Amino acid sequence: DWTMAEFRATKIAEIRAQVGPGRVICGLSGGVDSAVAAVLIHEAIGDQLTCVFVDHGLMRLNEAEQVVTLFREHYGINLVHVNAEAQFLEGLAGLTDPEKKRKFIGGAFIELFEAEARKVGGADFLAQGTLYPDVIESVSFTGGPSVTIKSHHNVGGLPERMNMQLVEPLRELFKDEVRALGRELGLPDIFVGRHPFPGPGLAIRIPGEVTKERCDILRKADAIYLEEIRNAGLYDAIWQAFAVLLPVRTVGVMGDLRTYDSVCALRAVTSTDGMTADIYPFDAAFLSRVATRIINEVKGINRVVYDYTSKPPGTIEWE
Ligand code: XMP
Repeated sequence: DWTMAEFRATKIAEIRAQVGPGRVICGLSGGVDSAVAAVLIHEAIGDQLTCVFVDHGLMRLNEAEQVVTLFREHYGINLVHVNAEAQFLEGLAGLTDPEKKRKFIGGAFIELFEAEARKVGGADFLAQGTLYPDVIESVSFTGGPSVTIKSHHNVGGLPERMNMQLVEPLRELFKDEVRALGRELGLPDIFVGRHPFPGPGLAIRIPGEVTKERCDILRKADAIYLEEIRNAGLYDAIWQAFAVLLPVRTVGVMGDLRTYDSVCALRAVTSTDGMTADIYPFDAAFLSRVATRIINEVKGINRVVYDYTSKPPGTIEWE
């Protein structure tokens, strides 16, 4: 891509000019934006960059391992992997209110990130994969003058507190442009094309209390759903697709036995920016196939429903 090649060269020059011989710390979330920012910055300044991946254990199946392998082995980027699953699960115990979950996760995330950044020592710059819509949204992501619908994962205030300058090479870009830049930088298609994933991860896809057991159940159902979507060639036509594990148990029958297990909801939407969304109209045969597989293969789920709500009035996530 001609324009992205040019953008890449321009940004590399800008990053070198801004950073000089300084050290940069970049938080990796596992998502596309921070990954593209990290690879671009690594290309500009190499070992002056250290990435910190605070792994809250709330990612999808195998996702954390994939991120670590890609960055360490493929790109040779200095990467600190903080495995904090136990700590996050402990803090989430007993929390059911979506905003309390988000606040806890955001706070713990920043605390752990700061602690690691201090260990790295002497960094002058903090890199973030902030996009143009994030810049706008931090001002306008409200339902009115002061109504926050969902408090997003927000590292605002962190650079000042840590006495660091920001490096944000993606600030002018939209999501599709970040993906194009990622491809230009040689990131694998399957990684670059991934659906957006919220910072608080599976915690906001498990209404009610989040436990390790429920995370594991959800990960299995979600992986089956996404595998079927990929096999049907529908992945790229969908903005986001995911499973939600509901805090409701229903009666079912498996063979000769009565079951009493959880309900799983499937969500899939089309969107261009996440601000509005329409449901993806799967055909009935596809949904039956997914439902049957989930119920047969995932212990703990005995009923599957499809969410038919557009945004507005719904939101994309359930919490
Ligand atoms: P909603 O659910 O508000 O989501 O329609 C719009 C987009 O934002 C993502 N989302 C989040 N992203 N932290 C994030 O980083 C969050 O707390 C959060 N909540 C929602 C959601 O996945 C969708 O892409």
